[in-house]
Amino acid sequence: MTDLLIHSMTEFSSLILGCVERAGARRIVEIGAEFGGMSQRLADHCAGAGGTLTSIDPAPKAEFVAWADGCPHVRHMAATSLAAMPGLSDVDAWMIDGDHNYYTVFNELKLADAASRRDGKPLLAVLHDTDWPCARRDMYYAPETIPAEHRHPHSYDAGVTLGNDGCLRGRGMRGMGHFAWALRAGGPKNGVLTAIEDFIEQAQGPTDGGDEPRHLLYAHIPAVFGLGILFDASAEWAEDVAAMVLPYHQNELIASLEVNRLRNYLAVIEWQDRQVGNRAA
Ligand SMILES: C[S@@+](CC[C@H](N)C(=O)[O-])C[C@H]1O[C@@H](n2cnc3c(N)ncnc32)[C@H](O)[C@@H]1O
Repeated sequence: MTDLLIHSMTEFSSLILGCVERAGARRIVEIGAEFGGMSQRLADHCAGAGGTLTSIDPAPKAEFVAWADGCPHVRHMAATSLAAMPGLSDVDAWMIDGDHNYYTVFNELKLADAASRRDGKPLLAVLHDTDWPCARRDMYYAPETIPAEHRHPHSYDAGVTLGNDGCLRGRGMRGMGHFAWALRAGGPKNGVLTAIEDFIEQAQGPTDGGDEPRHLLYAHIPAVFGLGILFDASAEWAEDVAAMVLPYHQNELIASLEVNRLRNYLAVIEWQDRQVGNRAA
């Protein structure tokens, strides 16, 4: 089933590598490596630019760990993003594809922003899962690590489907024990896109610590669960990056292909569930 569904940031490689090349990024942090598909492409870029890739993932697949062990310019941190990020410095670009919930993503962006400001760097963050189903609904790989007051009611058995802000029991797209869905989509502090929007609003507003407000640009590419590219409008490379991503930003054709892909995939899950039900009956 997994093979049927493309779901990796690797699908956006040409765009992501185009961004980091235009931004002259040498030191890249990746949050969420899984099999390491995107990691390998980022590592090639970093090696060519004389830089390093730091991949943060508390539970990546074994093939990633074996590969990373053999790469001198790749460092794997087996920790959660919020634990590992405060110890990082001189980062040119952040790839954010770890735990897809409001609390985690909002705080990842805050930490990336604080580190970039401290080190005198413009912010460049590329985020995955900015569209359905995670845009307005939290998912949790490890709900126990999210403070209770920031955690929505959730279930490992819940399934999600298009056009339904609630959830289905034992039907729809579900985590099969690997992750839990918030039982409801929407509302405040729920989902990856909501976290990005709130971060942008806060970063562009007056700051407590006397920091200059950021002027941020955000491109939203509505394919393969959504890719967001967030960057500092004052960076010397900002115009170049903006020109590259603009044709994809909120592109209606891409968005309708994504909805079609999701409908087809959800139909396959339904047929598969029916078959399992028939077999059990
Ligand atoms: C969707 S996969 C990443 C896919 C990969 N970026 C790609 O494009 O091929 C999500 C990964 O994030 C990791 N993860 C979960 N919670 C995390 C956290 N709090 N910090 C860092 N990584 C996390 C999981 O172990 C999993 O391997």
